[in-house]
Amino acid sequence: RKPAGAPDPSLARAVTKVGVIGAGLMAGQIALLFAQRLHVPVVLTDVDQARLDKGVAGVHRKIADRAAQRKMTPDEANRLTALVTGSLDYQAFSDADFVIEAVFEELGAKKEVFARLEQVIPADAVLATNTSSLSITAMSADLQHPERVIGFHFFNPISVMPLLEIVRTAATSDGTAATALSVAKTLKKGPIFTSDSPAFVVNRLLTRFMGEIIAAIDEGTDPAVADAALAPLGLPMTPIMLLQLVGPAVALHVTETLHEAFPDRFTVSENLRRIVDAGARTLVSWTETGQQILDPDIAALWQ
Ligand code: 3HC
Repeated sequence: RKPAGAPDPSLARAVTKVGVIGAGLMAGQIALLFAQRLHVPVVLTDVDQARLDKGVAGVHRKIADRAAQRKMTPDEANRLTALVTGSLDYQAFSDADFVIEAVFEELGAKKEVFARLEQVIPADAVLATNTSSLSITAMSADLQHPERVIGFHFFNPISVMPLLEIVRTAATSDGTAATALSVAKTLKKGPIFTSDSPAFVVNRLLTRFMGEIIAAIDEGTDPAVADAALAPLGLPMTPIMLLQLVGPAVALHVTETLHEAFPDRFTVSENLRRIVDAGARTLVSWTETGQQILDPDIAALWQ
């Protein structure tokens, strides 16, 4: 198959307003990055006012924190705060050039968002998705203009991770890909182009890496011992810490998608499923001496 490569940069369109669908943790980080690097208005939306207000307030708080840490000037913080707003009305996207969805990982929900957006966004606007592993071809299958859909997959923490997967489907136009590439560069990311295969590239590797540690624990190795085993290699985070950063539910979803696509290569840990079902988000904690330990509740869930 022809590799999904970089397009002709001269086809890129200017972006003067951005929409972010979803106001959760990822969406907030994305909105902040766009406002900071593109210097354009960014409008967030969510399914209800309470979630939206919480999301926008979270972004404004993060800006205030950065100003307090002197990572930006008060003027810059005021400018950024004014750029990030929220609206429940999709008409707010009628003049957006680039809209990215970061709603929960459910194909139906994402399709619904895209169908609604298609009714309001300008004809040449880009419709991007931050999905970790869902098929972007399936997401755009019922749209009138699948050529403007593209994957734009960030990595946690979005402010610092340079990696960005730009995912083209067979229908994605060169203009859409060129605009996505130009936006990625303005965001100061180092994008790679991938095909629309299950979990693209990076999450396949990460899932394999984290999956093997989880399997070792499932097979009886003490969780703290298994998690600390790779520390001498100088990795920035242990696998369980990475699992916490990504979110156990997201990690489970990616693993399930990969298991469905490649059952002989990816297995789903029943212990991971149990941890997600228990609603656990904090997997590791720190002792008073700064040592990282597996949360006792999580260790107890591991059977
Ligand atoms: N949890 C959440 N955020 C963290 C964090 C943690 N444990 N540690 C640091 N951060 C955030 C900080 O809040 C800060 O955010 P800000 O820029 O918005 O203020 C930012 O990271 C930088 O913090 P530091 O300067 O203290 O950075 P460090 O030098 O401590 O490095 C790190 C932190 C960059 C997170 C480093 O530990 C690292 O590279 N870890 C690996 C991260 C990784 O592999 N990410 C990929 C996840 S996979 C994914 O997201 C894909 C998805 O589809 C599943």
